[in-house]
Amino acid sequence: MIVEARVAAEIARRGPIPFAEVVDLALYDPTGGFYASGGHAGRRGDFLTSPEVGPLFGAVVARALDQAWDRGGSPDVFTVVEAGAGHGALARSVLAAAPRCAPALRYVLVERAARQRAAHAEHLTLDVPAFAFVSGPDDDDDEPMAPTPAAVGPIVISLSELPRVSGPCIVLANELLDNIPFGLLERTADGWADVRVGLDDDRLVEVLVPAAHPPQLDAEMGARIPEQVRASAWVREAQQLAAPDGRVISIDYASTTAEMAKRPWVEWVRTYRRHERGAHPLARLGEQDITCEVAVDQLPAPAQDLSQADWLRAHGIDDLVEEGRATWRDRASIGDLAAMRARSRVTEAEALLDPTGLGGFRVLEWDGR
Ligand SMILES: C[S@@+](CC[C@H](N)C(=O)[O-])C[C@H]1O[C@@H](n2cnc3c(N)ncnc32)[C@H](O)[C@@H]1O
Repeated sequence: MIVEARVAAEIARRGPIPFAEVVDLALYDPTGGFYASGGHAGRRGDFLTSPEVGPLFGAVVARALDQAWDRGGSPDVFTVVEAGAGHGALARSVLAAAPRCAPALRYVLVERAARQRAAHAEHLTLDVPAFAFVSGPDDDDDEPMAPTPAAVGPIVISLSELPRVSGPCIVLANELLDNIPFGLLERTADGWADVRVGLDDDRLVEVLVPAAHPPQLDAEMGARIPEQVRASAWVREAQQLAAPDGRVISIDYASTTAEMAKRPWVEWVRTYRRHERGAHPLARLGEQDITCEVAVDQLPAPAQDLSQADWLRAHGIDDLVEEGRATWRDRASIGDLAAMRARSRVTEAEALLDPTGLGGFRVLEWDGR
């Protein structure tokens, strides 16, 4: 109700507002938004992501980080920024995998929602940013922070926004882009229209207005497409952060604008609550997650685009599963925690590699610039 009231107040003030603004309030309003009200990933949460399947995903990411560290000449300081970190499941499993780069590692969790951020300190030993990084001489926010070379890692810090760090870094984002507010466009007889949200009495209704930036895309009347300007801007910002020699790695369900135009929009805009598909995106604002498949063609062109299954294989998931099988063979009769963890790698791998599920996600990589 809080979010609906805020949306209604905005509409009363300004007239019909962009769809992206409604999604922003529904997800991130600091009092009534879905994430402020406790929505989160995980078996006991609302949706299951790869890091929440178990520790195997993070163990593979740890290998990928080691490879990047090796490629960079094993620098004394190696910064990894994980954006949209949720309550920190990926960070925990990366660190638990004890990557070789750990002594050099500055691991920065970035999470917009305060309630999720609060969970970081519950599960991880956090350092203060000043220990991991030194600011410029006058502590100016625009001045990039330089990693403290003397400190021995892993040093873990938690922030609400992307930092400005000098030197190369790896920016990781699992299922962030699909959660960045998006607009909607609809093909009408007069061309592309922007889907806005207005009020009919006290009911939220869609209102179509001519699109300010109509796309050059032919589609059937009534077809809809997402407008992912904010996700694209986020990738560009992450690329700047990763520059000069770092990398941005985003893992998400993705498609193309043209392909989405051929499908009903409620198939690629999905809502979730407690592991069930939710209601219409304009219903129950703040009570359900709202996500949108990522239109890869609307983002800066990636340097690499692999399925999650191929990316995990390229970074050694099969070796880790084989290692798990061997441990299970040795320890099954003991039946201790190590044996159980080893056995669960097999089932985790099945979920992470499933081409009709998580394995079909796209891992997009961009160079820092
Ligand atoms: C779908 S969840 C994924 C969480 C986690 N990465 C995982 O895979 O389990 C997306 C998270 O991104 C956060 N988020 C959204 N926009 C953000 C932004 N601009 N910067 C940082 N976090 C953001 C949300 O609050 C939410 O916790």
